Amino acid sequence: MKDKMKKYFIITYGCQMNEHDSEKLAGMLEAIDYHKAEEVEEADIILINTCTIRENAELRVFGKVGELKRLKENNPDLIIGVGGCMMQSEKAVRHLYEKHPQVDLIFGTHNIHHVPDLIKRIEKERSRIVEVWDEEEGLIPDLPSVRESDFKAWVSIIQGCNNFCTYCVVPYVRGRERSRPFKDIINEVEKLVAEGVKEITLLGQNVNSYGKDFKENIDFADLLQELDKIPALYRLRYMTSHPRDFSFKLIQVIKDTKAVCEHFHLPIQSGSNRILKKMNRGYSREKYLELVNKIRQEVPEAAITTDIIVGFPGETEEDFQETIDLVKEVRFDSAFTFIYSPRTGTPASKMEEQIPEDIKKERLSRLMALQNQISLEKNQAELGKVVEVLIEGESKNNPETLMGRDRRNKLVIIPKKDGLIGEIVNVRINKVQSFTLYGEVV
Ligand code: SAH
Ligand code: SF4
Ligand code: F3S
Repeated sequence: MKDKMKKYFIITYGCQMNEHDSEKLAGMLEAIDYHKAEEVEEADIILINTCTIRENAELRVFGKVGELKRLKENNPDLIIGVGGCMMQSEKAVRHLYEKHPQVDLIFGTHNIHHVPDLIKRIEKERSRIVEVWDEEEGLIPDLPSVRESDFKAWVSIIQGCNNFCTYCVVPYVRGRERSRPFKDIINEVEKLVAEGVKEITLLGQNVNSYGKDFKENIDFADLLQELDKIPALYRLRYMTSHPRDFSFKLIQVIKDTKAVCEHFHLPIQSGSNRILKKMNRGYSREKYLELVNKIRQEVPEAAITTDIIVGFPGETEEDFQETIDLVKEVRFDSAFTFIYSPRTGTPASKMEEQIPEDIKKERLSRLMALQNQISLEKNQAELGKVVEVLIEGESKNNPETLMGRDRRNKLVIIPKKDGLIGEIVNVRINKVQSFTLYGEVV
């Protein structure tokens, strides 16, 4: 008897870490003979990889799970699995299990390598399975992954987070910091580069902590230096680096290496020392500015970007003004700005003086207006310049154009031409907006 080809569809929320986990889930599913479905409707198995960083991330997940109910009614054999960060919360798991009988499988962040076995069990027994581990068991083993791109790849270097910023759930849902062996990372990057990958992004919640848990004396700067020796690696990026641990040695290494990109993403979170302290960020406004100055001095062409939270408990108008002043002083190339979202189990969620929603929204819009203006002015200075762009594919908004990123991670749009996808080209900028540069290949 000829079996119909089984298909999978994965829906991913959250950060690059989750995107990369989804690539691994895809790799494992392909290893047990599933093929990628183009549309969710044709899938035999649907996995949702969830995020819990802010409340709206969770609401979107519940909305999506509700939507899938209809597919299950049409196809009772369909397997629906939900995993990822949100599933590390007992409350979310219980809600999903009780209110959404269409969900067959619930798994967490620490056991994604067991998903194929769990699926096989469901196929055989048609039972519902919840398997979430509270704690990590060392590193999640290396898993096959199916990459979205032929020329860009993510490589995990450290799992978990030990920082316990008071607003953040990540340390609770991803466990303690565990660095991946140096040699394993080098081998993986060498293999990817041999397959034609031009740009590698090293992943970790705090990449600067890399190696702190090793007996040997190896740090993140050493890793960058070693990877830079791989001849055909054109671009090396990393996500995310914590300002507290960003050493001057690291700036020097970034300056002296060829592949490491001239982009520093340094989440400041707040410009007020009082709030930074309550957030447990471990640096002051002054220390942060010193770091920025050092970067500008050593790598003047670099882009500096950031993350900012408004409306953290107790944030006064004065505290917020300090954030505004800092943004004016640093003039970030761009910033991700967020409204503080209380997360169950974190210290900040229990703090008094939670800020009313309307004040948070109003602060966010003032901050965004300022940053958009600065981003636009910074981009205006790019007019007429030539930048090096790795062309990634068709742009989302206009299929007549191609999109890519320059070394500073700025989004660049060019008119469509054959043979450019996956190539690194020089582009002269002729038009700009706050978030986008436009130009022509020269
Ligand atoms: N490890 C990274 C951050 C990962 S989360 C780092 O420390 O830089 C990405 C961003 O989400 C954070 O930088 C922060 O700005 C935001 N964020 C995290 N928790 C949040 C919360 N409870 N409410 C609002 N924004 C939050
Ligand atoms: Fe969250 Fe802070 Fe860890 Fe980043 S460093 S993941 S913000 S606890
Ligand atoms: Fe979200 Fe988990 Fe990343 S909570 S931001 S997907 S580590």
